[in-house]
Amino acid sequence: MSTTRFLTGITTTGTPHLGNFVGSIRPSVAASLSPNVQSFYFLADYHALIKCEDPVRIQRSTLEIAASWLAAGLNPDHVTFYRQSDIPEIPELNWLLSCVTGKGVLNRAHAYKASQDKNLAAGREADDGVTAGLFMYPVLMGADILMFKAHKVPVGRDQIQHIEMARDMAASFNHLYGEHFVLPEAAIDDHVATLPGLDGRKMSKSYDNTIPLFSSRDQLKKLIGGILTDSRAPGEPKEVDGSALFQIYQAFATPEETEALRKAYADGIAWGDAKSTLLERVDQVIAPMRAQYEELIHNPARIEATLLAGAERARALATPFIRELRSAVGLRSLAQATTAAKPAKAAKAALPSFKQYREADGKFYFKLVDADGRLLLQSTGFDAPKEAGQAIARLQREGLGALAGHIAPVEGVADAQVSAALAALAEAAA
Ligand code: TRP
Repeated sequence: MSTTRFLTGITTTGTPHLGNFVGSIRPSVAASLSPNVQSFYFLADYHALIKCEDPVRIQRSTLEIAASWLAAGLNPDHVTFYRQSDIPEIPELNWLLSCVTGKGVLNRAHAYKASQDKNLAAGREADDGVTAGLFMYPVLMGADILMFKAHKVPVGRDQIQHIEMARDMAASFNHLYGEHFVLPEAAIDDHVATLPGLDGRKMSKSYDNTIPLFSSRDQLKKLIGGILTDSRAPGEPKEVDGSALFQIYQAFATPEETEALRKAYADGIAWGDAKSTLLERVDQVIAPMRAQYEELIHNPARIEATLLAGAERARALATPFIRELRSAVGLRSLAQATTAAKPAKAAKAALPSFKQYREADGKFYFKLVDADGRLLLQSTGFDAPKEAGQAIARLQREGLGALAGHIAPVEGVADAQVSAALAALAEAAA
């Protein structure tokens, strides 16, 4: 039975909140327990540097996030759980991928474009405050994913474009250097709820409306007390639609319990009582994990050891793979024979090619360009596309001499260059 490999990264900025738990931690831990699945979860601390320049916060957040995932039941014996910065092969792969990724592709990344749009809207220069790290974010993410040959990458919708980019990087590399990478796919779980925060907007650090996952019970009570409600009095029927309180409850309760609260809303439950109901239900889920979390967070050396053990397992795959990739691109021992055959695809990628097109004069033309797109040969106009095609065929069969009169000279290109290009094409076709 073949196994599917899942991989996902968690950026180590900030403290996990209930929204992270419901949207990411809980479903990921559950998925890691299914059979025929291999899971790789890692702390994306290199990515964190793009958003956060506070070393203490980076370290603290790495600790808190690791402790949260472990407390929530992630089993490091079943899952490869590691820290990105413990895998030096990842930044190395980042460079190899940078060299096969179009700059224009990165220009179109949503996150980068959003920064630019914000700058322009504020009357600043488009790239104001944009680091090269932010610009390169998708490539580093591609390295994370491709390094471990992940099939599926569970992410939020906002990350789909990054997975598509990783796929394109893998395809470009494979095309140039032979089949080395698995083409990954995003895995989007539509059943996972986005949790509203205290003010009813999506729970997010950027809105400052979160409930930390491992608040003490007292803190939890205080925060839940602050959830925005309307002004309906006890006894007045209440709306579940748009009620943040109800939605958070639903994410922690069984369907039966949710139905019971829906009915209580209709029957006019007092907001204070609804909040107590929510507190008890959330605390019931969190309390056992909280005990675990406290124990872990006070034992950072144990977490460190867990992460290093995970890194060792990850590197057992990464080290030989990067060796293979280095060799594929030509970063090889000089003692090795240099005549080793190029992979067929690389040869193909470097070939000249014919391009056919129609000009404004209505006539049909072709040209021959080298692998870098430089013009080698230019035809005169033909009345029909078929004639242009036949001319190309004759040229390939009989050589340059066959087309005298149908070729416009290209400045600076010798006939010998054209003949060499034709010979290369013929050889590749043979
Ligand atoms: N960019 C992801 C996020 O912000 C985190 C991340 C980094 C990631 N590398 C990854 C996710 C690789 C999946 C795979 O959520």
